[in-house]
Amino acid sequence: MITPPPEWTRGYFAPLYADVYEGPLADATNTELEADFLEEVFAEVKGEPLLDIGCGFGRHVQPMRKRGHHVVGLDLYPHLIQRMSKRGRRAVCGDMRRLPFAEAALAGAWCLFNSFGYFPHEENLAALKDWGRVIRPEGHVVLQVPNRPVMGKIAEEFAPSQMMTNDFCVTEVYDYDRDSKSMKGRGLWQFKGREQPWEFTLRMYTLKELERALGKAGFDTVEVREDFDSEEFKERASTQLILTARRRAARSLP
Ligand SMILES: C[S@@+](CC[C@H](N)C(=O)[O-])C[C@H]1O[C@@H](n2cnc3c(N)ncnc32)[C@H](O)[C@@H]1O
Repeated sequence: MITPPPEWTRGYFAPLYADVYEGPLADATNTELEADFLEEVFAEVKGEPLLDIGCGFGRHVQPMRKRGHHVVGLDLYPHLIQRMSKRGRRAVCGDMRRLPFAEAALAGAWCLFNSFGYFPHEENLAALKDWGRVIRPEGHVVLQVPNRPVMGKIAEEFAPSQMMTNDFCVTEVYDYDRDSKSMKGRGLWQFKGREQPWEFTLRMYTLKELERALGKAGFDTVEVREDFDSEEFKERASTQLILTARRRAARSLP
C-alpha cells in the first residue's frame, strides 16, 4: 500500500497550473533544449518504450515523439492526462511510487522540472526503487532536481515577491526547512479572471545524497550537469542538478 499523495499536490496541480505553465510562465522552461538533451541520451533506444514520469501536460512527450521516440507520459492527475489525450499525446494515470508497468518493461525514463521530492526521503527512495524495477538493465534515467546547497540558501533569503503582466499576476514566497531538508513555497496565481492559491513542499537533495539513493535503487551515475546546455555541475553554485544514471545489471544489484 502506498500512502495518499500530499494534499498540496492536488491544489498546486489543479487545472490553472497547466494554463499558467503553457501560458505566461512558459518561458520559465526551455522545452526544445531539454528534448535535444533527452534525444541524445536515448538515441540508442529510439522506437523502444520510454516513460516521462510526472509528465504534466506533456511538455516533453510531444517533442520527443516528434523526434521519433516511443514515449508514454505518466501523471497522477486525470485532468492532465485528459488534456494530453485531447491532443493525441499518449499518457497514463498513475503514481510515480508504483509504476503500472512490468519488470524491465521500459528502455528508459526521465523525471524533469521539480517533479521529484514530493515525499519524505524513504518514500522518494521507494519510488526510485520502483523505477529500477521497470527500467531494464542498461536503461537510462534522467532526473532533474534543485541543487539543495544552493536552492536552500536562495529559498531562505527569498523576500516575498509579486510579478504582474497584462492578464497574469503571481505572488510568491519561499523558505527552506532545515529539519526536513525541504523547500516550502506558497503563493497565488491570477490569470484571465481565475485564481489559484498554491503551496508546495519539495524535499531537496545534494549530489551525494541523490547518487546514494539512486545507487540503492540499482542505478549508477553516468553524467551530472547543471543545465541542459552546459555541462559543469558546481556543488556550491549550480541551482539545478541534472543526473543521468544507468540501471545496473540485475546480478549486481546491492
Ligand atoms: C512540476 S510538474 C512537471 C511536469 C513536467 N515534467 C514538466 O516538465 O512540465 C510535476 C508533475 O508531477 C505530477 N505528480 C505529482 N505527484 C505525482 C505522483 N505521485 N505520481 C505521478 N505524478 C505526480 C503533477 O501532477 C505534475 O504534473
